[in-house]
Amino acid sequence: MAFSMSHVMSSRTSRYPGFYRLPLEARARWVAEQAGLTLEEQMLLTNGGLTLEEADHMVENVIGRFALPFAVAVNFQVNGREVLVPMVIEEPSVVAALSHAARLARAGGGFLAGSEEPIMRGQIQVMDLSDLSVAARVIEEHTEAIRAVAEAATPSIVARGGGFRGLEVVPFPATPVGPMLVVHLLYDVRDAMGANAVNAVCEAVAPLIAGITGGRVVLRILSNLADRRRAWAEVRIPPEALATPDFPGDEVIRGILEAQALAEVDPYRAATHNKGIMNGIDAVALATGNDWRALEAGAHAYAARDGRYRPLTRWWRDESGVLGGRIELPLAVGIVGGATQAHPLARVALKILNVSSAGELAEIMAAVGLAQNLAALRALATEGIQRGHMALHARQIAMAAGAAGEEIDRIAERLVAERNIRLARARELLRELRGSITGEPREGAHG
Ligand code: MEV
Repeated sequence: MAFSMSHVMSSRTSRYPGFYRLPLEARARWVAEQAGLTLEEQMLLTNGGLTLEEADHMVENVIGRFALPFAVAVNFQVNGREVLVPMVIEEPSVVAALSHAARLARAGGGFLAGSEEPIMRGQIQVMDLSDLSVAARVIEEHTEAIRAVAEAATPSIVARGGGFRGLEVVPFPATPVGPMLVVHLLYDVRDAMGANAVNAVCEAVAPLIAGITGGRVVLRILSNLADRRRAWAEVRIPPEALATPDFPGDEVIRGILEAQALAEVDPYRAATHNKGIMNGIDAVALATGNDWRALEAGAHAYAARDGRYRPLTRWWRDESGVLGGRIELPLAVGIVGGATQAHPLARVALKILNVSSAGELAEIMAAVGLAQNLAALRALATEGIQRGHMALHARQIAMAAGAAGEEIDRIAERLVAERNIRLARARELLRELRGSITGEPREGAHG
């Protein structure tokens, strides 16, 4: 397979121990410095980015806007480059887990990633054919004519080096509505996600297909199973980096391999395994204005490509005891066109990522998917995921009770230790804590 790898060095860093402990403004400032965000771009982050008017132009029947947290996962190294990963997501723990896994990955040199050329498939369905193999031959003989019509429909993509890359003809002799032929147009969409371009190409080519075959064309639409546009990422992690106070690294690896084995044999587990992977990938897709439903469709169809639904990652232990992991999946994402440019915050997210091609974005997203899976398997194979969730939840409750600065962690730790993560208890603890410092109990200053 023809995978390429982006390799860019930069003086930026994504490593920031204790980033999560900073106040929100300090985090935003640091990211702005690292990414070189203008004041206007920083403002977009605080006001949600999209104006009502922009929202109204984006879809139909708009009556408002819906905000979600915009976070940044730290510690990522992809192909030797430091990467800050913008994520838009409502689920707690995902960003923390991802940053943690990316830190573990640094022990093995970070992530190596690559991607195929950005080739999408468009499908044209042809009915009412008396002989499928004759029609298939006629279509193949007209490949150059089809190329000319297709490329005339997308001059800007052709100008950027994309365009027609070939066709495949797939016969379905027996369907509930009779025999049909499906023509797959393979189209290089460069830095776009490509749905619009491919749909336009399919619609432009359809009359020619109908004319040369004498058939009747029905559907003309891209396929979301973008299996010619895959990205992959790999990671190596030494056992020492995986050890926890309660579990030696070797045992953690054994647990990860056992979790992997379950996902291999059991679609019920594979679905959850892959859901965790998509937690990370979808959050980056949302932040960058990409179509996460298309990614979901492609990922799950790819996971079931040999007839059984399987995990999108693989984990193994090499001869030296090091944990190895790999992900490979279709990633039809763009950095031009659609919401990637129409949503002001998507442009900010792309600037934070500092990517120069759709392939590079796909490579980072593959690394994110692999990291998210590592974080989940590591937690599941050791303490379980509830403890991490509880710790985060406890911090939120401590803040809601009015704790600030170092008080937050101290109170959160007590709440977790007491297994009593409630606002009333957090308030009590805060009163105690402040009382023990000032001798004077007082109600939370910010709560
Ligand atoms: C939760 O959103 C995702 C996990 O269930 C993934 C997994 O089980 O691998 C933790």
